[in-house]
Amino acid sequence: MTECNPVAGRILRVDCLDGLRPETWDCNFTLSYVRLLPMTTIQTKPTDLIPALDSLSISCNSADSLMKAIVALLHEKLKSYNWVGFYMLEKDGDREVLALGPFKGAMTPHTRIPLNQGICGAAASTGKTVVVDDVNSDPRYLACSLETKSEIVVPVSVHGKVVGELDIDSHVTAAFGPDDRALCEHAAVVLGRFLERTPS
Ligand code: SME
Repeated sequence: MTECNPVAGRILRVDCLDGLRPETWDCNFTLSYVRLLPMTTIQTKPTDLIPALDSLSISCNSADSLMKAIVALLHEKLKSYNWVGFYMLEKDGDREVLALGPFKGAMTPHTRIPLNQGICGAAASTGKTVVVDDVNSDPRYLACSLETKSEIVVPVSVHGKVVGELDIDSHVTAAFGPDDRALCEHAAVVLGRFLERTPS
């Protein structure tokens, strides 16, 4: 059902229909007719989300809420981002491990990853973004879901030191192109700068 009560200058919410996505409209004029676009015709360009990431870094008041908001934004807006989550470095005796933080998507068996394991370990230990177009042909890959085909992992740094990473899995082969990389690296910078401003 469409709830349509347009009033000039008010936010109008159009609720979800089968096969259609919910939209919030900034209604600066009186609408008498709203045409809903099928979900398949609405594609968000990854880098279009950069301003929204910048806004989150201002509106969130803790690193945890910022991580949750970033994960929710990317998972909701980009349909090929099927699993989105943060891993943060934690002490585990005399070594460091990547501990699962906020995420959206299916539960993963990999809640604590040593630095010498997985795509995640490779990104954190080298401090460099890793993009894997076909996870099944990469011997480092730790399987999270049988459906995963490609993955990007971007380190998060604070004052030049890796403290964690953003990990995204897709059910699509080679889902992460230059625009995706730019967006994910921006998300990592947003979190890193927030942590620099508000150390725990
Ligand atoms: N695939 C990752 C493990 C984490 S899950 O994808 C969420 C890796 O190879 O390190």
